[in-house]
Amino acid sequence: MDFFEVLRRRYSVRAYKPDPIDEDTLTKILEAVNSAPSAGNLQAYEVIVVRDPERKRQLARASWDQMFIAQAPVVLVFVANPERNRRYGKRGAELYCLQDATIACSYAQLAAVALGLGSCWIGAFDDDAVRKVVEIPPTMRPVAILPIGVPADMPETRERRPLSDLVHEEQLGK
Ligand SMILES: Cc1cc2nc3c(=O)[nH]c(=O)nc-3n(C[C@H](O)[C@H](O)[C@H](O)COP(=O)(O)O)c2cc1C
Repeated sequence: MDFFEVLRRRYSVRAYKPDPIDEDTLTKILEAVNSAPSAGNLQAYEVIVVRDPERKRQLARASWDQMFIAQAPVVLVFVANPERNRRYGKRGAELYCLQDATIACSYAQLAAVALGLGSCWIGAFDDDAVRKVVEIPPTMRPVAILPIGVPADMPETRERRPLSDLVHEEQLGK
């Protein structure tokens, strides 16, 4: 699929068919993740693959009861790991590791579309509850949860800001 077609087809999928994701497909998604840029190429993040139905339900409950998460055959949890980025001091520990995890999750979203699947970025969750479900230590921070599967819904119409509002020439100004 053409890259721009991938961008056009991506939308936040909030209902999934029970069809499983085969290992080859999941590996392609994870390899796409692994190809993402990261600060200093330090890859200061971890990815947790969750397939267990009860654990998926716990993640859904930890995400303020967004239960559609548990419908997806695979749920990825992207975790910032500041300890992997000691090179850039405070900026590395506070910002770059979050950016690394964020970019990685975006790559997973786009790869999923290219493979005929859908996903939804989940940012609304109780950090500590998620930590408990997938055993994330206090030194790391869960950044995004990404259910992935075959879409069982249709894209809604979404408005975007016009480029004339979003994009600024030379300076942000007022
Ligand atoms: C940082 C972030 C957090 C988000 N959190 C949630 C969430 O918790 N639940 C949800 O259903 N969608 C969530 N979304 C998806 C957005 O609602 C969605 O991307 C936006 O409405 C645009 O729709 P689209 O993805 O279909 O283009 C999140 C997206 C981002 C980038």
